[in-house]
Amino acid sequence: MTARLVTGIGELTTWDAERPVLAGAAFVVEDGRIAWWGAAADAPDADERDDVGGAAVIPGFVDSHTHLVFAGDRSAEFEARMAGEPYRAGGIRTTVDATRAAADHELDAGVRRHLSEMHRQGTTTVEIKSGYGLTVHDEERALRIARRHTDETTYLGAHVVPSGSDVAEYVDLVTGPMLDACAPHARWVDVFCEKGAFDADAARAVLRAGIATGLAPRVHANQLGYGPGVQVACEVGAASADHCTYLTDADVDALASSGTVAGLLPGVEFSSRAPYPDARRLVDAGVTVALATDCNPGSSYTSSMPFVVALGVRELRLTPREALWSATAGGAASLRRDDVGHLRVGARADYAVLDAPSAVHLAYRPGVPLVRETVVGGRPVA
Ligand code: NIG
Ligand code: FE
Repeated sequence: MTARLVTGIGELTTWDAERPVLAGAAFVVEDGRIAWWGAAADAPDADERDDVGGAAVIPGFVDSHTHLVFAGDRSAEFEARMAGEPYRAGGIRTTVDATRAAADHELDAGVRRHLSEMHRQGTTTVEIKSGYGLTVHDEERALRIARRHTDETTYLGAHVVPSGSDVAEYVDLVTGPMLDACAPHARWVDVFCEKGAFDADAARAVLRAGIATGLAPRVHANQLGYGPGVQVACEVGAASADHCTYLTDADVDALASSGTVAGLLPGVEFSSRAPYPDARRLVDAGVTVALATDCNPGSSYTSSMPFVVALGVRELRLTPREALWSATAGGAASLRRDDVGHLRVGARADYAVLDAPSAVHLAYRPGVPLVRETVVGGRPVA
C-alpha cells in the first residue's frame, strides 16, 4: 500500500490528549487512515510527499445534524422573519408539499449539491434526516436516498403531524408501519419534541419504538421554548439532544450527568433572530457540546461548518479551539463515532487543509473561504 507523507503543516490539530495542536507537523496516510503523525523533523520516509506550505490542517468537520432530503425554497419565509415574523414549526409543511411532489432524481441531485457545498467547506462526515415526507412511502424514499450518501441516516417521521392528521393516529403510524419501512435504511430515530410538534409522551413512544427496532435515539429538544425534550433525551439515553436553545439549570444538570451530547445549531438562531444558546454554560458544567449546521430550507439554510464555528465563538462564547473541537470531535461524539473527528493514529484520513496558518482563522476571518482542500479516507473530494 502506498504511504503518503503530508508535510509543511504550519499547525496540525489531532486532538491527541497530550499534544492536541502541534506546530511544524507532518503525518502519514496509509490505507485511508492516519498511520503516523508528529514533528516534521521526525517524519518517516514515504512513497509520496504532499507539502502544504505552512497551511493549518484540521480534522474534517463532522456535521451531526442536517435535513438534506428536501425540495422547494422558503426564502420568502426568511424575508418575513427578518421583517419581524417569528419562526413557526408549521413552515415544515411547506417543504413537505414540495418534497412529496419532487421526483427521486431531483431529491438525490439536491443531496449531492449540498454535500458538494459541504465538502468545499471542509465537512467530511454528514448525518442526514428524513422528515419532509411524513407518509410511509415518502419517509422510506427519503431515507433510501440519504443512505446512498451516508451511513448516518436518521428516521424523523415524527417531525410534525401532517395537515389533516390526528396526532394519536399519526404516532401509531410513525411507531408502526412507517418505522418498519424506514428502519432498514436508518441508524438513528429522532423526534421533534416541542409545542406544535410532539409532546413528551408522544416523543417517548416514538423513541422507544425506534429503539425496539434497533435504532439509536436522538432528539430535537428545547428549540422554541422551555420544555421536556432534553429530559426525555437523557431519560432514553439519546446520543444527542439538539438545539438546546432554552435550558433550565435542571436541563443542564441532566445533560452533565448523562452520556447525551448537547448539539448546538446556531445557524437556527442566526436565521430566526432567536437568542443564542450559551455553550459556555454547558462546557463549564461538563456537558459535551457538538456544533452542527442543521442545514434545512426553513430554520437554517447554511451548509457551512466554518460559519457555525465562527458563530460558536462570537455568539455561543466558546474559545476558537473549543468551537473547532465541538465541530469535529464533538460531532463524532454525537454520532458515537471514534474513527472520525480527530487525526490520531488509526483515524480515517478525513481532513481539511486551510488557507491560513492556524485554525483560529476560521472564526477570526468569518465568511472567508479558507478551506483549500478536503480529503476523505485519504482521497481529495474538494
Ligand atoms: O431542526 N426543528 C425542527 N426541524 C428543523 C426545521 C425544519 C424546517 O423549518 O423546515 C430544525 O430546525
Ligand atoms: Fe433539525
